[in-house]
Amino acid sequence: MVDRRRFLGALGLPALGGALGVPFRPTELSATALDLVPMLRSHEGEARDVARDEDFWMEVARAFTVDRTLVNLNNGGVSPAPEFVQAAMKRHLDFSNELPAYTMWEIQEPRREGVRLRMARAWDVDPEEIAFTRNASESLQTCQLGMDLEPGDEVLTTTQDYGRMITTFKQRERREGIVLRQIQIPTPAEDDAQVVRLFEEAITPRTKAILACHMINLTGQILPIRDLVAMARQRDVPVIVDGAHALAHFDFTISELDCDYYSTSLHKWLFAPIGTGLLYVRKDKIPGLWPLMAAPEGMDANIRKYEEIGTHPAANTLAIGEALTFHESLQPKRKEERLVYLRNHWAERLLEHDRIRLNTSLLPGRACGIANVQMVGVETGALQRHLWGVHRIFTTPIKHAEFEGLRISPSVYTTMEELDRFVVAMEDVLKNGLPA
Ligand SMILES: Cc1ncc(COP(=O)(O)O)c(C=O)c1O
Repeated sequence: MVDRRRFLGALGLPALGGALGVPFRPTELSATALDLVPMLRSHEGEARDVARDEDFWMEVARAFTVDRTLVNLNNGGVSPAPEFVQAAMKRHLDFSNELPAYTMWEIQEPRREGVRLRMARAWDVDPEEIAFTRNASESLQTCQLGMDLEPGDEVLTTTQDYGRMITTFKQRERREGIVLRQIQIPTPAEDDAQVVRLFEEAITPRTKAILACHMINLTGQILPIRDLVAMARQRDVPVIVDGAHALAHFDFTISELDCDYYSTSLHKWLFAPIGTGLLYVRKDKIPGLWPLMAAPEGMDANIRKYEEIGTHPAANTLAIGEALTFHESLQPKRKEERLVYLRNHWAERLLEHDRIRLNTSLLPGRACGIANVQMVGVETGALQRHLWGVHRIFTTPIKHAEFEGLRISPSVYTTMEELDRFVVAMEDVLKNGLPA
């Protein structure tokens, strides 16, 4: 059992009992939570139990100022940040505004290095291999556009990769005559070897790069990136990993994937401020990958060349530190287990009905907090509008050529009552259909 009194005490919060109703104290939380990390790590073995401890997660939920008049089941698109992350960002922004050319450039930008060190440590990579970006799109496009390619060179991805990333390669097709090849993978995919084989079979002598999602945004499917990278490396093909939904969602390190390029947003599952992303480039690949915006030749081998984007706020990046502290305090494994538990709570109940189809595998390791559910016989867009219009439940309708359904992505602050409301609303439509 988690020692909640120590948890709250170390977070600068009163112990349970007097906790609810006592004003939240954001600065104390962020100041003291760092000390908490080692103590919480010592409970690693209990992650599955903690995932079921509603009192614990109610305390976690208090960090967020979300609107409880509605149910947000689209935390995958972009996440609210905890109140103290927002507060930190505002604090940094106000300080920067005192004399921006000095406070922002001379004081705050150097402070980003501390955040870089911490992020590198959290995902077990060298700090000289990670750059801060504004989102996953910027990180990915740095890789997609920064590689030298000749007309006729091929890039390989799936039909389920993110629209903007496919658009990016299509623009290179139109502009430079490269060739984009897209393979289909099963939905859901439960056989790692099959997925890797499908990629391998599509590699030709002209294939210069593979783009693959670590977690597919449409269904929450997790792909076997480590195996894919190992196969592709034998064929001398680098893999650009789209980790927009993976980082800080489930427990892994970038180093264990052994990839050359990893891109992610931090405003999704790390709960960092909106407009934060990360790019990992293996050290020996940095000189060969051009930045999106030009950098001086002297920076060719420097990861910071990807941060040469002109004047932009430092506050967002600095506040990543608060989000990281929160993430580490929760512990990645506990967070993962909780998100799986929430998903199973609604999905298993809905699966009791014949007309419910899940486009996501519930087998361990195949997905985490995101799943895609279809109600057979009910148009997905109409279902989404009904849930929102009548029940104030916010979901994401997905219509893909190979499948369709609602993408459901609760978060650490989602309550069981909110998930139950979703299930009951779905059951009502199963029984009575949509209102005319
Ligand atoms: C798989 C995937 N890749 C890339 C992105 C782009 O992320 P961002 O909009 O934060 O740049 C998203 C956004 O949802 C995504 O789901």
